[in-house]
Amino acid sequence: MKKWLCCFVIIIGGCQSFGSLEQEPKPSKPPVQVEEPSSETPVPSSETKEQEELVLEERFWNQIEVQNGVNVIMNPDNVLALVNKEQQLPADYKPTDLVIPNVPFTFKETNIEKRHMRSEAAKALEALFTAAKQQQIELYAVSGYRSYERQQQLFASEVQRLGEEKAVVAVAMPGKSEHQTGLAIDITSPSVQYTITPTFGDTREGKWVAQHAHEFGFIIRYPKGKEHITKYQYEPWHLRYVGKKAAKVIYEKQITLEEYFQIVKKI
Ligand code: DAL
Ligand code: ZN
Repeated sequence: MKKWLCCFVIIIGGCQSFGSLEQEPKPSKPPVQVEEPSSETPVPSSETKEQEELVLEERFWNQIEVQNGVNVIMNPDNVLALVNKEQQLPADYKPTDLVIPNVPFTFKETNIEKRHMRSEAAKALEALFTAAKQQQIELYAVSGYRSYERQQQLFASEVQRLGEEKAVVAVAMPGKSEHQTGLAIDITSPSVQYTITPTFGDTREGKWVAQHAHEFGFIIRYPKGKEHITKYQYEPWHLRYVGKKAAKVIYEKQITLEEYFQIVKKI
């Protein structure tokens, strides 16, 4: 009986007496958090941010005029010009701000057409190449601006080489090439012997470009798996400058420029 009583006392007392032996000083009351009135603008929620990303001013949309049954882009200087098989550039369109980007090219000729890009795109390309170099990614530019006439020659020779069916998915018809905008550039690397090839996409260089081009305002314009939308074969080498805002959305959603215009709201 005494034994039982002893156990009872220990169990009951455990909570109090053991605790009192090792009692810590009572914590003082935590300071009351008073919210300071702030004059700063509130941080936008991720939802608001997404909504902001998905609006696009009217000036960035194609202004189309139908000429002889053809959709002609009347504002071809727009950096977001959607040039494809359905909407084309005026035959006489030539950007007025073409410059030579300070990046390595695969050829020596200095003052030729294909070394040029529009000023804004050229600056962005220089930044992209500089960032790549810092990661030991060696890139070379192959072909930038192309006139309507040059594209005509390229298309004709591709038809002769491969036949029309294969040519149309590889080379744009004159007026329908982004190279005429001065905002597109084909790039390569020594790892694919400075050639234009789909295997560029499997190289360290090609993968780096696919992951980082958007940070500089570029997109992979003809991605793998989207051939039914772009109507061109996969071209991991063809970069198109669209500016950072559109490039971010296109990269994050893994969509094409065509799909981008489907999801943005015109304001
Ligand atoms: N290779 C692309 C589609 C062009 O010729 O513009
Ligand atoms: Zn190209």
